[in-house]
Amino acid sequence: MCGIVGYVGKQKAAPLIIEGLKRLEYRGYDSAGVAVLQDGRFAVAKKTGRVANLEGETAKHRLHGTHGIGHTRWATHGGVTDANAHPHVSSDGKIALIHNGVIENYAHIKKFLLGKGYTFSSETDTEVLCNLIAYHYAKEPAAANGDSRFVESVRKTLRHAEGTYGIVIMALDLPGELVTARKGSPLILGLGDGETLVASDVSAIVSRTQNVVYLKDGEIAHLTPTTCAITTLSSGTVQTVVDKVTWSIADSELGAHAHFMEKEIFEQPTALENAMRGRFAEDGSTARFGGLNITPGEFRTVDRFMFCACGTALHACMVTEHLIERFARIPVECDYASEFRYRNAPLFRNSLFFVMSQSGETIDTLAALREAKRKGYKVLAINNVVGSTIAREADGGIYQHVGPEVGVASTKAFTSQLLIGAMLALYIGRMRDLSFSEGTEIVNALKGTPDLVRQALAQAPHIKAIAKRFAKVTDMLFLGRMSLFPIALEGALKLKEISYIHAEGYPAAEMKHGPIALISEECPSVFFAPNNELFNKVVSSMQEIKARKGPIIAIITEDAELPAGLADEVIRIPRCHEAVLPIVASIPVQLLSYYIAVERGCDVDKPRNLAKSVTVE
Ligand code: AGP
Repeated sequence: MCGIVGYVGKQKAAPLIIEGLKRLEYRGYDSAGVAVLQDGRFAVAKKTGRVANLEGETAKHRLHGTHGIGHTRWATHGGVTDANAHPHVSSDGKIALIHNGVIENYAHIKKFLLGKGYTFSSETDTEVLCNLIAYHYAKEPAAANGDSRFVESVRKTLRHAEGTYGIVIMALDLPGELVTARKGSPLILGLGDGETLVASDVSAIVSRTQNVVYLKDGEIAHLTPTTCAITTLSSGTVQTVVDKVTWSIADSELGAHAHFMEKEIFEQPTALENAMRGRFAEDGSTARFGGLNITPGEFRTVDRFMFCACGTALHACMVTEHLIERFARIPVECDYASEFRYRNAPLFRNSLFFVMSQSGETIDTLAALREAKRKGYKVLAINNVVGSTIAREADGGIYQHVGPEVGVASTKAFTSQLLIGAMLALYIGRMRDLSFSEGTEIVNALKGTPDLVRQALAQAPHIKAIAKRFAKVTDMLFLGRMSLFPIALEGALKLKEISYIHAEGYPAAEMKHGPIALISEECPSVFFAPNNELFNKVVSSMQEIKARKGPIIAIITEDAELPAGLADEVIRIPRCHEAVLPIVASIPVQLLSYYIAVERGCDVDKPRNLAKSVTVE
């Protein structure tokens, strides 16, 4: 949560920072602010609301300096006010700072600083960092270990800070220098031509440079327009490793679409092609992955898989569970990462852990990974953002390769997780009981996924009309069975997130054990009813809803036939293999949620109270 950008170079800093903040707005949009060091002072502009509001505000401040920091906020401590917006300036006026994270012991530090005469003008936890750095900076002589006084005062401060942070700091008497440090919140450095940037995400950097350094937890970087010196909290030196970003700026632009969510929904055929490219064995009977860092022999010793994730990614894990158990006959357990990290679950000796995360920065998923590693387990990650913290801390893994996902509601990342989950189930299954011909059948089905998704997307105008009809409801149920139960959960989550309609996902047969009490003419149910062995059972569940006057939207495969008049609306999807069905069935619910949200006038890409990657507990 929160997006941060710092710039030091030859250009005017404010416009570059604001451009970066616009790209990071998905991380938080309660307020935004920028501070530029110019004419011997910090010129600060802050405003509640979107970065667009800030843009108007900066015009009044004549920001011309070439050295600055900016922030877009997702509020944790303190309400959504101009005063609580970042950047914050220390009460002695010497230090300006932006922060992404939470300082858990801020009350204790604040008490200490009040005793030293520092004052506070916001309700945030962040302001203590700013004042504590100022305190150490004022006391610090030229550092004995050769570090600058600036870096040493930040280091001393962070030794006392409990919680999480990605911070960027300016000192009033040091034009042309930034210090940045992280623990638990992502930070990427961009090394440009006579300029250096720092941001929460590469999308705020790629328009200036593709040379980046992924800062690690516990590291502090001292930046000037031409240098980048990294050390650790304990004063150790760090070798700077420069990576090349493969994304281009066009990947994170809207193009002709109204919203990123729409763009990303329609990008899915290509995204899926990218996710599977080069990942099938030459004999065409199984999948192959380059970065698992685990031998087939090790895989064969596994007698239980454990998957941890949050939100949409957890739904993808649940589908993967179903497919691994079907194809490989190995038990799989899925858990909310936020619960796993604390519940001290008894684990099987030969368990193998997977975490799934689009961003690779979700704090609960990261904590689950660390907990499993602490207990001595290998942890593999399925992750989209190259170089993310989870990717770096995992023992190996699989990148999703679907490019940046900007819409807060995950779509293409979700279906690529489903695809990779299916490929993984195939890979493990082929090490066990799946035959060559079963393997080739699944491979052929998976290769056909992008075309099937294209066919499902062709239903968009029909789904838009259905969305118009149901856009005013206040409750909706999503019901599916087997591997489509997690898709029902996902459909409900999508609708809730972006349209603020109360929605629940259930196994279709479970509905009569409670949720049926919600059914009325005002509460529609979305049913997944593919033509498979449970089709008639799902039809019976529909009859139970119909008997209570509940409207039904049925998502059926094209070869299925429903009793006349049972469903109020029918959406047909292509008939497909069970490995592919959850992917294809996701498309109508993504479109339905999207069009309903648009019809209700909701801000689809920036839903209220949410942020794209949740980096606080
Ligand atoms: C998806 O639509 C949600 N915004 C959310 O549930 C998300 O999937 C969850 O926060 C996990 O994110 P991650 O995949 O980046 O770890």
